[in-house]
Amino acid sequence: MSKIEAGRMDLYLKAVNIKNLVHEAIDTVQPMAKTNNNELKVSMGALTSILYIDRQKVLQIFLNLLSNACKFTENGLITFNIHSDKNFLYYSVSDTGVGIAKEKLGYIFEQFTQVDGSQTRQFEGTGLGMAITQNFCQLMGGTLTVESELGFGSVFTVKQPLQHDI
Ligand SMILES: Nc1ncnc2c1ncn2[C@@H]1O[C@H](COP(=O)(O)OP(=O)(O)OP(=O)(O)O)[C@@H](O)[C@H]1O
Ligand SMILES: [Mg+2]
Repeated sequence: MSKIEAGRMDLYLKAVNIKNLVHEAIDTVQPMAKTNNNELKVSMGALTSILYIDRQKVLQIFLNLLSNACKFTENGLITFNIHSDKNFLYYSVSDTGVGIAKEKLGYIFEQFTQVDGSQTRQFEGTGLGMAITQNFCQLMGGTLTVESELGFGSVFTVKQPLQHDI
C-alpha cells in the first residue's frame, strides 16, 4: 500500500495467456471454496487468448476477489465470469454469501476497513485486500464496482482497458 501511495508502483505489461491465468487463480482458491462448502464456477465468454497485461497484478486482483467470495460465503455458489472485446477485459466475481449493507458499501475500499471491525468478528483478515485491488484497477486505467444486497450476496466487477501491443 505504501508503494502505491508513494506512486512507486509500476505496471509491467507482457503477453499473457489469460485462460491459463484464470485457471491458476481458480486452482489456488479451490481449497478455500471447499472449506466453506462452496461451489466455484468459471464462465469464459469470448476471450482473446493473449493479452498485454500486468500478470502479477491481475492475478492478485483475481485472488483478492475470489478469496473474499470464499470467505464471506457458506454452502453457496461463487461464479467467476470473464470476457474481452477489442478494447476491454471484463470480469466479475459473484457470490451468494453474507452481502454488504448499502450504507457500508462506500467503506470497503478503504485501508484496514472491515464491515465488522470488532475484536470478536467472525472473519479473518487485515482489511487491505480491497484497497489494494481498487488501486491496482485504477493503476491499469480500469474500474472496480460492487453491487450487493445484505444476506443475498455480492458482485464485484472489473473493466480494464486493453493495449494492443507493447
Ligand atoms: N464478497 C464479499 N462479501 C461480503 N463482504 C465482503 C466481500 N468482499 C469484501 N467484503 C467486506 O469488505 C471488507 C474489506 O475487504 P478486504 O478484502 O479489504 O478485507 P479482508 O478480506 O477483511 O482482509 P484481507 O483482504 O486484508 O485479508 C471485508 O472485511 C468485508 O467486510
Ligand atoms: Mg480480503
